[in-house]
Amino acid sequence: MKIIVTADLHYDSIKSRQPTADLAREICRIGGDVLVLVGDTASAAHDPLRDCLKLFAGFTGKKFFVPGNHSLWCLSGEDSLQRYESIVPQLAAECDFTMLDHAPTVLEGVGFVGSVGWYDYSYRNEELDIPLEFYRAKVAPGAARRLPEHKDLADRMAERVTPEHLDIATRWMDGVRMNMPLSDEQFLEYLLERLARQLKAMDASAAVRQVLAFVHHLPFRELVPQQRPPPLAFAAAYMGSDKIGHALLECKKLSHVFCGHSHWPGRLNVKGVEVINVGSTYFEKRLEVLEL
Ligand SMILES: [Fe+2]
Ligand SMILES: [Fe+2]
Repeated sequence: MKIIVTADLHYDSIKSRQPTADLAREICRIGGDVLVLVGDTASAAHDPLRDCLKLFAGFTGKKFFVPGNHSLWCLSGEDSLQRYESIVPQLAAECDFTMLDHAPTVLEGVGFVGSVGWYDYSYRNEELDIPLEFYRAKVAPGAARRLPEHKDLADRMAERVTPEHLDIATRWMDGVRMNMPLSDEQFLEYLLERLARQLKAMDASAAVRQVLAFVHHLPFRELVPQQRPPPLAFAAAYMGSDKIGHALLECKKLSHVFCGHSHWPGRLNVKGVEVINVGSTYFEKRLEVLEL
């Protein structure tokens, strides 16, 4: 079985359009039995997601998809949980893609399981020593000070903030573009409960000899990019959670995990499981090929 994996196509972004079109053409040319897109295919608007998925119409194998955080960004009137549960899976289905989060699948004895995964700030860079309140608000102290909607936070935390903190003026855009009725910790737990149930079913099934998992966020902290300048180090908090890794490693048949999100390629072996970050950036798209 030939499985092709890519991630972070960001087709709604102008700089990603041509590289994604080139990659899709290449994937359709080489072909395979399974294609998996591991999140951040596009953002809020529906048409770029549809248009991107249709680039793979010529791929004759089975097509799977997991959402990324960008997939849960909202148009007016939507909420992020509704996007996760119904809007995004329906858009995917229209284009012949199955969203793994809702439909784990077994093909020739191989189980395919997926989740957007999420973050709980546990990967935050402790060296920055930024109070947790800023991470929850998804603004660095320098941004909180200049944004009127975060004035209360900036005032409340004024005594705990240093000049070095104020030099960091970035924000994590999920805080602006999402409309999520759950806290990040609650959403992560919600996802992990589902993932754990699906993995358990794979372990219990005699029809499954091996399991592959596809998770947009980083399941192991070793994959978080290190030595980054402070604005990017702030973003480490939103990269994922070790709780995802713990849930995955409970599955005795798990052989491979693919992720994306950090736009930083990486590989590690955790207790015999191959963990691969595809590592596409906005400008350069990458793919992985797994032959089983
Ligand atoms: Fe991304
Ligand atoms: Fe992402």
